[in-house]
Amino acid sequence: MASATNFTYKGIPFPRAYYTEEDISYVDNEFQMLDDDVIAVTYPRSGTHWMLETLALIRRDGDPTWVLTTPLMERSPWIESSPGLKIALKYPPPRLLATHMPSQLFPKSFLQSKAKVIYVLRNPKDVAVSLYQLTKTMKAVDNHGTLEEFLEVFLKGNVAYGSWFDHVKGWMKLKDRPNFFFITYEELKQDLRGCVERICRFLGKELTGQQIDSVVENASFQKMKDNKMTNGTQLPDFFKDKKEVHMLRKGICEDWKNHITSKEAEKFDCVYREKMQDVNMTFPWD
Ligand code: A3P
Repeated sequence: MASATNFTYKGIPFPRAYYTEEDISYVDNEFQMLDDDVIAVTYPRSGTHWMLETLALIRRDGDPTWVLTTPLMERSPWIESSPGLKIALKYPPPRLLATHMPSQLFPKSFLQSKAKVIYVLRNPKDVAVSLYQLTKTMKAVDNHGTLEEFLEVFLKGNVAYGSWFDHVKGWMKLKDRPNFFFITYEELKQDLRGCVERICRFLGKELTGQQIDSVVENASFQKMKDNKMTNGTQLPDFFKDKKEVHMLRKGICEDWKNHITSKEAEKFDCVYREKMQDVNMTFPWD
């Protein structure tokens, strides 16, 4: 829904403070994906920063210098944000990119390219709680009231980037393409090393055991929370309190149990079952 803080593009809400219709339309219609692009795609709060840090560390063979000295937006620009798009268009290939775009707004050129997409998805109840907590700390986004009120809005998809269900269902339609790889936040939590090995295989990247150890160590929650290039503290005008780390909050699975009541969870599950009934897949939270 359009509001004072959001505009809609093809029915999907975007916060005016961070996006313009021109940039979203450019990404949708004109952005050229290149064969050697690697792009992390997520619904917000599903583990984007975690995947981007991991991919940057893999690219540099486990050496943390790049992630410790270069802001996340410069090493892996969000293509639909105005600063990110400018950086992406000047980025010397091979590019490492990021986006939250739903599949129907993803660059059309992807379909003819060999660009590699890594899609991360997460338990939607944890996504909702994490998103609620984050939006409270952000400037220039809609105030959604209590968590109970926010859950209603979330289940209807009246949040930035639209419905979690549509996002996941849209991207999962691409799951059999050779240049598409998906992984869950829960798998990353359970066995990051095993996930790094799988991601390396998908990327055709060979790392030694020691290099993989370094990727895993430097992509840990604490290392990332301490990394000023990644933790959001240098994002201008994004948060009400710039000094606090809001991007990395708790970094655990099933934190929703500490916030969502059993009655709200029942309602959530009911919508989940209805919306996901045509998805022939099982996820760690099912
Ligand atoms: P919580 O709010 O539940 O803590 P995104 O990057 O897509 O915005 O996702 C943010 C979520 O990923 C936050 O979840 C954040 O704490 C979590 N996260 C980021 N880095 C992580 C890491 N290294 N390990 C575990 N969780 C991480």
